[in-house]
Amino acid sequence: MTDPAANINRAIEEAAPPLSAALSPLGRRVVLPFGIPSQAAEARGKTLNGTIGQITDGRGDPLPLPSMSETLPGLVADDRRRAFLYSPVQGIDEMRRMWREWQRRQVPPELPSSLPLLTVGLTHGLSLVADLFTDETRAVALAEPFWGNYGQTFAVRRGARMLTAPAYVEGRYNATAVAQVLSSLPAGEPALAIVNAPSNPGGYSPWPEERQALCESLVEAAGQRPLLVVCDDAYAGLVYEDEISRASLFWDLIGRHENLVPIKVDGSTKEFCFFGGRVGFLTFPFAPDSAVAQALESKVKCLVRSTVGSPVATSQMILLQALRHGGIDQEVERVRRVLAERYRALKQALEGCDRRLLQPLPFNSGAFSLVELPEELGLTAEQVRQHLLAHHDTGLVAVSPKHLRIAFCSVDTAALPELVRRMEQAVAELAGRTAP
Ligand SMILES: Cc1ncc(COP(=O)(O)O)c(C=O)c1O
Repeated sequence: MTDPAANINRAIEEAAPPLSAALSPLGRRVVLPFGIPSQAAEARGKTLNGTIGQITDGRGDPLPLPSMSETLPGLVADDRRRAFLYSPVQGIDEMRRMWREWQRRQVPPELPSSLPLLTVGLTHGLSLVADLFTDETRAVALAEPFWGNYGQTFAVRRGARMLTAPAYVEGRYNATAVAQVLSSLPAGEPALAIVNAPSNPGGYSPWPEERQALCESLVEAAGQRPLLVVCDDAYAGLVYEDEISRASLFWDLIGRHENLVPIKVDGSTKEFCFFGGRVGFLTFPFAPDSAVAQALESKVKCLVRSTVGSPVATSQMILLQALRHGGIDQEVERVRRVLAERYRALKQALEGCDRRLLQPLPFNSGAFSLVELPEELGLTAEQVRQHLLAHHDTGLVAVSPKHLRIAFCSVDTAALPELVRRMEQAVAELAGRTAP
């Protein structure tokens, strides 16, 4: 019997050898069969369409329960209709095109990018990448501390080895952390790297020179192996210093080395403050109509179909309203300004704190900042977190034994100095010192 994935795998191998070399056994196997979604897509528009198991009025329109459809009065009839029907597995066409335009609004036209594939939030996009390109034999290189859920997605679910280097050295950003990790692997072994800027938990985006160093170090690392660089752009655009670029590193890495393939994971969760919507996207650095983009789309569709069925149509329709709206840039900018104000308030409060108690790490973007506990106090972040909960009515996250994360995105500007004061007080109490 012929392998149904053979042609698709060949298309990837011909156009993108490093991507092909990095496919996991699962990634190699998956390809959308000519099943119900494909046959239903071919029948779209036919007068009699008996293909898909969707309950309709017999003419292709949904039969929404009035108590539900009445909650969406702002949608025009056709949008409301689409909100209640299945989304195509790859996402609603208009949604994909409009998100691509949004992604590319300041990008040179010659840089290729695929039509983004819809995912159920960014977590799902990362998980699809993990399925396609990782297993027990694969290393994932990243800077530490990192967003904890990467551990579940890549190591727990897929068995990948998480290899890390410190994101900060002596209190300064370490632009070449990921490349340092990669240099420890045998030459020729395919690897996956994750870059996340603005970062969680660091709230850091590289300054121009650091950005250049980061990109150059990845290009150099690609000289040694097929290298996929996942650009986790969850906090895209949330940058508060004028000199720092708001553009994704994805664009900087396209075409820089034949062995290097950037992959973009982004979405509306933070960029559009649409946390409950679960609309994310997965984008590859290839032209939309290219054979390799189509081959990857087939693989992703098989994974989506076999896990979540299809993405959420209702929230795609809500996000579409925003993207069609002429003033969306200003709406997003308004949120960025609120966060920029919180950023400045926290920065100022942390600048004034007692370094014997708290050592803030540099931050300039995103939603978070990190504070390190001085080694000599002998305290763990978990102890401080528990003490803040029990005695200071304050919740933070202990992201490592010595780092506490402050989510300034969810604290009022006026309350941020008090939050820092409570942190100082808590550490002083635990260390038997007097607070300033
Ligand atoms: C760095 C990073 N990537 C991805 C995600 C996941 O986003 P989503 O909620 O859309 O799954 C988060 C969420 O906190 C995040 O911080």
